[in-house]
Amino acid sequence: MYHVPVLLQESIEALCVKKNGVYLDCTLGGGSHTKAILDLGGKVIGIDRDEDAIKGCTLRFGEYKDRIKIFHSNFKNADEILKEENIKLDGAIMDLGISSHQIDTPERGMSFRFDAPLDMRMDKRQMLTAEMVVNEYTEEKLLKILYEYGEERFAKRIAFNIVKTREKRPIRTTFELAEIVRNSVPVKTPFPERRTFQAIRIEVNNELRGLDKAIKDIFSNLKSGARLCIISFHSLEDRIVKQTFNLMSTACICDKTLPVCVCGHKAEGRVFKKIKPTKEEIERNSRSSSATLRIIEKF
Ligand SMILES: C[S@@+](CC[C@H](N)C(=O)[O-])C[C@H]1O[C@@H](n2cnc3c(N)ncnc32)[C@H](O)[C@@H]1O
Repeated sequence: MYHVPVLLQESIEALCVKKNGVYLDCTLGGGSHTKAILDLGGKVIGIDRDEDAIKGCTLRFGEYKDRIKIFHSNFKNADEILKEENIKLDGAIMDLGISSHQIDTPERGMSFRFDAPLDMRMDKRQMLTAEMVVNEYTEEKLLKILYEYGEERFAKRIAFNIVKTREKRPIRTTFELAEIVRNSVPVKTPFPERRTFQAIRIEVNNELRGLDKAIKDIFSNLKSGARLCIISFHSLEDRIVKQTFNLMSTACICDKTLPVCVCGHKAEGRVFKKIKPTKEEIERNSRSSSATLRIIEKF
């Protein structure tokens, strides 16, 4: 299976799919969300930055070609795509992060479980790879990434040891990097490599910068009453989603000390209570345990 979907039923229910309504799937992956929307009679504009997802979904949805249009692009370009297609949306879904296919394909270099070149790119057309980050970034920049994107408390030791190792020879593979991390973490902890790999992957794919703008852009293309559903997989992503939703659903954003409102900011939507996977889903798919679904409806 290309991807084991997470919070699928909950997110599709939240979208309230209408027959012939147009829905944006910002993160096609294996197409589980798209398939559910098509099955309910909706139309889909599908985006993914990964060529494998595009090829897979183009094949999978061949029989629906009058109801789906697929774009190999970054969802940060969604506004442009929608304006060009002259489309207003009845709903949108973003299922952030990486697919099971990406993490389980050894040669993509995203997992410390397989020995492979340090790549980690979701979109092969881009230049920056994990090997470049690991071998070319300054120690300060590595430290910042590990600290901010990995929330790694041993970031300093890991960055130092990466630089010390690469002075002798370039670090080319996932196993080489994983070994440096394991040797840098002084306490026994399950999967000490996880945070470093997450941090470098986030940097390579520029996963967080501009996410707030993409959310606002997509929201601005919704019709009144339409919903944007976002599934995130770690606290850094979820914080951006939460803060952006809060901003879009808050009327006044003036400094609290001001006696009257001067900002003129208007609430544009209402936010629903966040949804977490059920115990059963986590038992079935442990990767779902960190997922959070957030929903905003446009006024
Ligand atoms: C968790 S998977 C989506 C799975 C999909 N919903 C399914 O059920 O099969 C995330 C997908 O989003 C894509 N992706 C991540 N960031 C993206 C971005 N900024 N623009 C476009 N696609 C992105 C990845 O390439 C990956 O295929």
